[in-house]
Amino acid sequence: MNKAWEIENYLTVENGRLRIDGHDAAGLAREFGTPLFIYSEPRIRHNIARLRLVGDRIGCPLKLCYAAKAMSTMGVLRAVRDANCDLEVNSGGELWKALKTGFTGDRINFNGSSKEVWELEMAIENGIYAIQVDSIYELELIEETARRLGKPANVSLRLVPEIESATHSGLQTALLTSKFGMMPAEAFEAFVKYRDSVHLNLAGIHLHIGSQNPSADVYVQAFEEMFAAMLRIFRESGVRLQHINLGGGFPVNYLRDDAQSDDLPKEQQELFSADLDPSDAISAAWRSVREKAEKENAVELLEGITLLLEPGRSIIGDAAICLTTVRNAKQRPTGNRQPTTDNRQPTTDHWLLTDAGFNILLSMETYKWYYRLISAERAGEPHDTPYKAAGPLCDGGDVYFDIEGHGRLPDHRLLPDNVGPGEVLAFLNCGAYSLAQGMQYNARFLPAVLLTKADGGIELICRRDTFEDLIANDL
Ligand SMILES: Cc1ncc(COP(=O)(O)O)c(C=O)c1O
Repeated sequence: MNKAWEIENYLTVENGRLRIDGHDAAGLAREFGTPLFIYSEPRIRHNIARLRLVGDRIGCPLKLCYAAKAMSTMGVLRAVRDANCDLEVNSGGELWKALKTGFTGDRINFNGSSKEVWELEMAIENGIYAIQVDSIYELELIEETARRLGKPANVSLRLVPEIESATHSGLQTALLTSKFGMMPAEAFEAFVKYRDSVHLNLAGIHLHIGSQNPSADVYVQAFEEMFAAMLRIFRESGVRLQHINLGGGFPVNYLRDDAQSDDLPKEQQELFSADLDPSDAISAAWRSVREKAEKENAVELLEGITLLLEPGRSIIGDAAICLTTVRNAKQRPTGNRQPTTDNRQPTTDHWLLTDAGFNILLSMETYKWYYRLISAERAGEPHDTPYKAAGPLCDGGDVYFDIEGHGRLPDHRLLPDNVGPGEVLAFLNCGAYSLAQGMQYNARFLPAVLLTKADGGIELICRRDTFEDLIANDL
């Protein structure tokens, strides 16, 4: 292995070409067309096994729930199910997909900040492991719904712990400025009020700090907040929690010694190169909480409790690539925003226009998310020629650099020399929050998705849109 992005037995270079689980990426692109997402079942399994190590290092049972919002194509859900991992869903639609995939209610955790009554009914009817409750209003609605259905609802109250993470502002979810959860004081009152309710099983508390958290410290803080809340709930209401839910947020290292990382501002570099080990982070948090519990003479509150985690990105982020073909190329004088006298600056931009835009990689536009781009056909060659690269949409923001000029993405992508129309390129690490947010903007076909299987085979798990799909809902 000689490329920093290579991963043994998964993403490799053979005869100069990119291979995913042994399959020739550009060959698949020619067979199935581009854009094309390829997910890897072996990598999904590997990532789940890595997260399971958390359970080996703490003193309580672990319930691992894959956050379906990161990518919920049925074939991916089946791969998660077959890896014996449970699921976190965020809407009645995701819940329906989960049930259809064969997840039973006790394997599903239901989140969401604007749930409708039909969604609550569906969750209660199916005996969901826990509905994460976003507000006191919602708790009342759940109680009323459970009473009407004559079936108790398992609930877990989502707290705002006011913990800041050094992640993108749109991915912060534990601050008062974020829209999620209720104040801890409200939750304490709710435990007292509903402790004897026959319609509600007050099973746990929940928080989620944010996504792509670069520092393990936030998990220590989160666990400590959780324990303080558990203790207070027990002392004030006598309720002993059955589980605590620490959410997800473990990062993926998007840079891995990328030659282009120096082109990014320091805070972006730190964010995209975050590399914390979930089992180190959670076991450190567990140790710290255990010490606190001993001091408080409350260790029994931790005994037998289940720890829930809801990782999305760290299971699916590096388990997929997206292949795209260069469809157009041109050279134009560089359009410097500021006039420069620096004669080392290129005066000509080599533009590459591909078939993968923000309709399938939305966060590249909204969050300026960085996905490494390489040539799938010449993966072994030096990547040192700069190109201005962009997608196909009729929208000036559909570019692979920071159109706003804040440098949050590299101005140029480095690829082999003489890249031109027809060459297949690959975005790496783009399995999470990519196609899951896909749209048919510009009436572009949503792409096909392949899954490389643990048995060495390959499966088409989502076909490319057809013309008819573009008007399927139009009347
Ligand atoms: C409540 C909740 N749990 C889990 C996740 C998954 O986060 P990640 O994909 O960063 O692990 C999210 C995503 O933001 C979330 O909002």
